[in-house]
Amino acid sequence: MIETKQLAKKYGNFEALRGIDLSVGEGDLYGFIGPNGAGKTTTIRILTTLLEPSSGEATIGGMSVRAEPEAIRGIIGYMPDSFGVYRDMTVLEYLHFFAAAYAVPQGERQRLVGQLLELVELGGKSNATIDTLSRGMQQRLGLARTLVHDPRVLILDEPASGLDPRARIEIREILKELRRMGKTIILSSHILADLAEICNRIGILERGQLVAQGTIDEVITSSGEKGEIRIRTTDDARACVLLRELSAVKTAEHHEAVQEISVHLATEIDLADLSGHLSGRGVHLRKMERREPTLEQVFMKLTEVAEQTA
Ligand SMILES: Nc1ncnc2c1ncn2[C@@H]1O[C@H](COP(=O)(O)OP(=O)(O)OP(=O)(O)O)[C@@H](O)[C@H]1O
Ligand SMILES: [Mg+2]
Repeated sequence: MIETKQLAKKYGNFEALRGIDLSVGEGDLYGFIGPNGAGKTTTIRILTTLLEPSSGEATIGGMSVRAEPEAIRGIIGYMPDSFGVYRDMTVLEYLHFFAAAYAVPQGERQRLVGQLLELVELGGKSNATIDTLSRGMQQRLGLARTLVHDPRVLILDEPASGLDPRARIEIREILKELRRMGKTIILSSHILADLAEICNRIGILERGQLVAQGTIDEVITSSGEKGEIRIRTTDDARACVLLRELSAVKTAEHHEAVQEISVHLATEIDLADLSGHLSGRGVHLRKMERREPTLEQVFMKLTEVAEQTA
């Protein structure tokens, strides 16, 4: 549904995007992750036809952002990273204003606005002015606004930024609901944990380059990050020494506080071989548990590689 081919953007001599190939399928909830300055907003502004690419292609629903910007604007809903200037309007006035701006027929606006307020749970705030809403409520109102023309594609720039954990969960629930309604959604964030739970696919952007893209599992596998094994034994100090003899083991450290050894692997190893190596030397396992790599670790690894090759 959203495709880019070698999409690049220069600001003067500075290369903000260096040839990225995004691929967002119909019905995807796609998380676009990257640290500050990676180029997320630049990409999103190109997709929403607000900014011209320097080279490369971007299409939405098969239409080119360069050739058919008007048609694209008709099928996308865009939530920018800042709210804009409508602070003295009430919630109702605001949504009616955008419904009118998108030429929703007058007779349908009342019902539409009611539905949207219900979706984002702001019915009780209809007559409140926007500047009296909490940040979480404002973000929810911003989401409602992107939906007035019933777009097929939603492009959201950091919809959860600056929100407390509860408000973040509320936004996540709304996004899941929108996906169930069949929308294709791309949202940017630098909060990985937020995206892991709801997105079916992610792309990781680092200094203008897409360093990974796919399902969360695919991204974790392709990163080569092996995660961690936690071990308790009859003699942890000795076990650490023995574990470090194994070529598959990158590090083995004893954590006093939890009385556990944390093992990071350089290459995969059969856990039975690992325990056999210890028991052959008289150290016995009390507990062994594998911890899958977190997205956080994967992200660090991928962006570290990108830095070395930059
Ligand atoms: N109009 C501009 N003129 C010059 N440089 C710009 C302009 N807009 C963005 N940049 C630069 O391009 C790079 C990418 O910026 P962008 O806003 O796309 O990043 P981002 O991933 O959205 O970051 P953040 O997480 O902070 O929102 C940054 O180094 C930024 O300074
Ligand atoms: Mg940004």
